Amino acid sequence: MNNLIPKHIAIIMDGNGRWAKLQGFKTRIRGHEIGVTALRNTATHASEMGIKYLTVYAFSEENWSRPKSEIDALMSILIRSLSSELETLQKNGIRLNAIGNLDNLPRNCKKELQETIKATSSNNTMTLTLALSYGSRQEILIATKNIAKQVLEGTLKINEINDISFSKELSTYGLPDPELMIRTSGEQRISNFLLWQSSYAELVFLPVLWPDFSKEHLEDAILQYQNRERRMGKTSDQIEIKE
Ligand code: IPE
Ligand code: IPE
Ligand code: MG
Repeated sequence: MNNLIPKHIAIIMDGNGRWAKLQGFKTRIRGHEIGVTALRNTATHASEMGIKYLTVYAFSEENWSRPKSEIDALMSILIRSLSSELETLQKNGIRLNAIGNLDNLPRNCKKELQETIKATSSNNTMTLTLALSYGSRQEILIATKNIAKQVLEGTLKINEINDISFSKELSTYGLPDPELMIRTSGEQRISNFLLWQSSYAELVFLPVLWPDFSKEHLEDAILQYQNRERRMGKTSDQIEIKE
């Protein structure tokens, strides 16, 4: 057991649709709307707890294959939330950031996103990264192509390709790797999220549906993290000696 607060937490916010169904709503949309409230509360608590980076999976590259009506609703919730949440971001010193294939977002959505990113750029309590139209395999392929291009152009030698030079080509460059990855809704999979970056993250799967996620769930996940022994390939004895 340690009492370390992770520097970077990644969350797969899953279960909005099931939540709406369980509540008796006709469509899944209400789940996404309440999901925004859960994100607002989580980001506020995380910044108060001293977490420096929070990265949330809001829309995957694969989510583009959902029905158009759901995609349209999600995009309009995103546009609305970006402006309505600005006050919360500023009040809590949260800097907004985004990763993913942002060019695929509707133009007004990308514009609103860029404006909010700019407006919060000098905040330094916590960085909140939204993964939008994000896919980790796609991100790794883009990085690989950029590396190949540099080798062809002669600006990078093959033996200079390593963890550090490769990480520089990922959209998360500048963020530390997450130490803790949480997925809500009970599903136990990564769904193409931060595959490279989470190679040593502690995974915590919680049965709660995202709209019901509260401060207590966040604290529970952190407690589970604190009870893990992070050996990074070493033996338990080596870790104990170090402590
Ligand atoms: C997560 O909730 C939000 C997005 C993927 C956009 P879902 O919409 O996946 O909800 P479930 O998993 O179907 O309940
Ligand atoms: C992952 O959830 C993506 C987000 C939370 C944004 P999905 O609901 O899309 O994942 P799968 O399809 O169950 O793996
Ligand atoms: Mg889901």
